[in-house]
Amino acid sequence: MKDLLRTEHLSRADVELLLATAADFAKNPLRSNTALSNKSVAIYMTKPSTRTRLASETAVAHLGGTPIFIRGDELQLGRGETIADTARIISGYCDALLIRTFAQADVDELGAHATIPVINGLTDDDHPTQLLADWVTIRENFGEDVKGRKFVYLGDGNNMTHAWLIMGAIMGAHVVAATPDGKWAPDPTVVAKAKEIAAMSGATVEVTNDPEAAAKGASVLYTDVWMSMGDPEAERAEKTKALTPFAITENLMKLTEKDSIFMHCLPAHRGEEVEASVIDGPKSVIWREAYHRRTTIQALFYHLTRGELKGN
Ligand code: CP
Ligand code: NVA
Repeated sequence: MKDLLRTEHLSRADVELLLATAADFAKNPLRSNTALSNKSVAIYMTKPSTRTRLASETAVAHLGGTPIFIRGDELQLGRGETIADTARIISGYCDALLIRTFAQADVDELGAHATIPVINGLTDDDHPTQLLADWVTIRENFGEDVKGRKFVYLGDGNNMTHAWLIMGAIMGAHVVAATPDGKWAPDPTVVAKAKEIAAMSGATVEVTNDPEAAAKGASVLYTDVWMSMGDPEAERAEKTKALTPFAITENLMKLTEKDSIFMHCLPAHRGEEVEASVIDGPKSVIWREAYHRRTTIQALFYHLTRGELKGN
């Protein structure tokens, strides 16, 4: 596998390799500090980012390489140069590219025309690097055996929901997405894909509109912002109303398992998708989860530039 364009392209073996390497990098960030020496990695973003940007730049630095950050308005791409031409040019200078943008199709096209590894750093449809950090964190809390455990995402049926369901399916887990029906439900083609993967991995993929039933007996409650980057501001009031029953409250947390944890990809809006007492409370693992954005992105750069991921 040359690129990581979509979560669904990862095999279970790839994820296991990446999680193991990330755990190593967590203990010893400089373990492979010459892996990218004399090499450069482009990080191109047309949407804002705190974690993914800083995790990527520091990951490249820890591997001995030079990160080059490029904002959306800084390339000729915005002035009509094609994605294919841009991909060829970046491939001539750099050894990998991480991109965050709106359309998944643009990321797929970059991957198709670049000769270097291309990593999806978030699109409107997917967020594969986030899920690697989430699963290192899940492993740190529950170990490798996830049998009998339920991993529940609540809120907007967005890029995070898609990645949550697909990765859970790859990992053979019982994953649930609790979202409103209709406009803010996950994309049915992604749900079908997650179920297809689950049929082979032994996972259970569930989509529901009942937040209490979803939370009951869960090991993880996960949520994300209600207004994603690029969401139409005009829909805020209607969307907030539809999503309010899916907010993670102390009462909802009471329905979960004794050893349950709260997760959030961040940025968070306390008092919207999650109560402050939950996200800042004893069950929250958000800081460790955010820390692992770097360990996992470092693992991705390390293995992709060595051609060590197989895909499925
Ligand atoms: N979780 C995440 O992707 O954060 P940023 O938007 O800050 O990169
Ligand atoms: N769904 C959010 C995730 C941010 C990390 C967004 O796309 O803005």
